[in-house]
Amino acid sequence: MSAAVPLPPPANPGAGSATTAGRVQAPKLAVTVSEVIDVTPMIKRFRFEATDGGPLPAFSGGAHVIVEMREGDILRRNPYSLMSPPTQTSSYTISVRRDDKGRGGSLFLHQQVRPGHRLTLSPPVNLFPIDWRARRHVLIAGGIGITPFLAQMVQHAAAGTDFELHLAVRERAQGAYLDELEARYGDRIHVYCDDRGERIDLDRLLEAQPLGTHLYVCGPAGMMEWILATARTAGWPDQSLHSERFLAPASGVPYEVMLAISNKAIRVTEHQSMLDAIEAAGVEAPYMCRGGACGECETEVLACEGRILHNDDFLSDEAKASGSRIMPCVSRFEGTTLVLQR
Ligand code: FES
Repeated sequence: MSAAVPLPPPANPGAGSATTAGRVQAPKLAVTVSEVIDVTPMIKRFRFEATDGGPLPAFSGGAHVIVEMREGDILRRNPYSLMSPPTQTSSYTISVRRDDKGRGGSLFLHQQVRPGHRLTLSPPVNLFPIDWRARRHVLIAGGIGITPFLAQMVQHAAAGTDFELHLAVRERAQGAYLDELEARYGDRIHVYCDDRGERIDLDRLLEAQPLGTHLYVCGPAGMMEWILATARTAGWPDQSLHSERFLAPASGVPYEVMLAISNKAIRVTEHQSMLDAIEAAGVEAPYMCRGGACGECETEVLACEGRILHNDDFLSDEAKASGSRIMPCVSRFEGTTLVLQR
């Protein structure tokens, strides 16, 4: 592929007030739920407004927030992509697919959160930004993976960039926002419904792209792996490939961890993440995605007698094999001794 053609960034390229590079953490946001909409039988949309009535931080398409949900003694923190227009600072919206087998965050939002409910959000962080140097942008989403693209497409339309969206859904009735997208963006939108036997012709799509095109993927893990592997095999360079997935922390057998700096022994329960347990012990730990993607929670392992269950997408295979680092937001441990530099 030839060198990408630079495009001017839109008026609002920032990612709120927290950045990966600078590790600057802005204060958390106190918000009140102002609207809850049933989008499909499985998906609800939530609108948040600042509880003090002021503006929320601007963000850029692809950004997410961590929604903190307290239910009795349980504090859940789940990442959700912001889908509202990035320049709209009067409110944020997210869409949440109910996961009946998850750790309870989406169920809590679906079953307990109503207008007037107060919640806490992290400031927006963008791990999946638009690369404005690209000559063309091809977005591929599966199901609820559409949400970061909703905000990105607002920016693409405002900037006049060349983009198209390919969206795969199980059936049309379960696909969120299809009618609105087709009405707004016309033939830039391509929908594939499983129940009609429609499949994206990936080889042809990739082949048809001009040099300088960037590919963005968000959806189920299997779909993302297939698309990225196909693109790499077809010769697409890594810098033209963008993807985002937040892993849900896995449940597992309870275990103990020693925190060397804090001098605390903590127990990680069956449905708790190691990061949750560290926080519950009153020890501050950094995070941005809580889904094994950003690297912010990376922690040094000082001693390990047992096996680290590396569940993240961040550490290299070599780093995982060395056993010297762990991402406590999603990874677990089996064994007798695990000592962390925390
Ligand atoms: S918080 Fe992002 S990888 Fe752990």
